[in-house]
Amino acid sequence: MKISVSFIKSKYNEKETIKLIDKTDADYLHVDIMDGKFVEQKNYSFKEIKRLVKYSTKKLDVHLMCENPSKYIKDYALLNTQYLTFHFEAVKNPNEIINEIHSYGIKCGISIKPSTLVESLKPYINNIEQVLVMSVEPGKGGQEFMSDIAFKIDQLQEMNSNFIVSVDGGINNETINHVKNADMVVSGSYVCLSDNYQEKIDNLRN
Ligand code: DX5
Ligand code: ZN
Repeated sequence: MKISVSFIKSKYNEKETIKLIDKTDADYLHVDIMDGKFVEQKNYSFKEIKRLVKYSTKKLDVHLMCENPSKYIKDYALLNTQYLTFHFEAVKNPNEIINEIHSYGIKCGISIKPSTLVESLKPYINNIEQVLVMSVEPGKGGQEFMSDIAFKIDQLQEMNSNFIVSVDGGINNETINHVKNADMVVSGSYVCLSDNYQEKIDNLRN
């Protein structure tokens, strides 16, 4: 299982946190972007992210919690981005966004909130590389894992397509047991509020 680490909730500042994540064997640096519209909080500008990711050698897994994802694609495509993920609930025409992301040669993900059903993604699944299943309401780190989303993982895996299934929110050494069939998990506060990032990542892998 791949591990993507989110740095928005940490004991240290972003720069130090990203450096510590970089020393681990995490597969991706998960970059949460909040616009203050799709979600209440607004966090980083692109300028800030561009400066921060200089401290990382990891591939980026960018999660746009933004009303107008199209606005961000060109910028984020310039970074070391492997997956660029937007929210299904935020857009009218997902195909347009998928094509735009693919036009930069990067992989496209679609994220769904806890209340959004997997069925809504059916028209798009053959055209994307990741489904990011939210196990908390998007908007902040450190929330409690919602175990009733776990059935979505099997539903998606049964669709037998080429995308990976990733789960984001409230993942720790216990809640990971609900999502063993996922291909990737995003973990933030469990790793970054600890003193030993690698040990926490090892716990998630085992
Ligand atoms: C939630 C974000 C998540 C979150 C992960 O809106 O998309 O990536 O910060 O952090 P934890 O693991 O603390 O839930
Ligand atoms: Zn996220």
